Amino acid sequence: MLPWRFLHPRMWAFNARNTFHTLIDTLQGAPPRALRARDYVARHATPGDADSVLAALDRYAIEERWLMSVGPEKGPLLSEMIGRLPDGARVLELGAYCGYSAIMICQRLAPPGNLVSVEVSSQNAEATRDNVAAAGFADRVDVRVGSSSDEIPKLQGPFDLVFLDHWKDLYKTDLQLLEKHGLLRPGSIVVADNTGDLFSPHAYVDYVRTCGRYDSESREASIEYYSHLPDAVEVSVYRGPDAP
Ligand SMILES: C[S@@+](CC[C@H](N)C(=O)[O-])C[C@H]1O[C@@H](n2cnc3c(N)ncnc32)[C@H](O)[C@@H]1O
Repeated sequence: MLPWRFLHPRMWAFNARNTFHTLIDTLQGAPPRALRARDYVARHATPGDADSVLAALDRYAIEERWLMSVGPEKGPLLSEMIGRLPDGARVLELGAYCGYSAIMICQRLAPPGNLVSVEVSSQNAEATRDNVAAAGFADRVDVRVGSSSDEIPKLQGPFDLVFLDHWKDLYKTDLQLLEKHGLLRPGSIVVADNTGDLFSPHAYVDYVRTCGRYDSESREASIEYYSHLPDAVEVSVYRGPDAP
């Protein structure tokens, strides 16, 4: 991702608000944002009610501090893809943050389907575990702390759907790692967030569209909680190791 893209005039309001909040939080020595969002959920959501946990996270993102969760605009697209999976499907997510997408996935994933979520930050993983438990899905999500490149080789596949939502520069190499370790099956769906122009992980998008092993299409979206900022989600269906 190129930092100068965030200097685009359309990003000014976004940048001004975030820079201001980050400055205040640093000066005050505030805990990490994901843990504060977790505490907000504990105060405002109804235990066992996933919708109320998501609503509390949305409120926190709008009224307190922006959260880089998949959010209410792009979330339904992810849910739509989960809805296409067979009963008992296995889902892998790279990048958990504070558990928003994990909760959305579990809401739509037919039991006994389950989710493995890999998160490099132990504090974000803690926030995810607590929020997922608050939503009533503790027994369906396995949160693993570690970097994707370290954790992928330890996973047992295949996964029916993979949600790529960690650092954009890693999308291509991590997808290749998933292929190498046999963690995809023909028909596995790979959903990659933030493939629009502001983030533009070109190497990834070029790869899924030209390597011949995926049927891939872009779906229009907007940046979470900033619906005037365009973004995209790339949805790719794996054809198998020997395609074309
Ligand atoms: C955009 S947020 C994920 C949002 C989450 N999927 C949601 O929608 O609620 C990106 C997360 O990826 C994590 N991350 C970044 N690089 C990673 C890596 N190499 N392996 C695992 N997690 C990573 C970050 O710590 C951050 O929590």
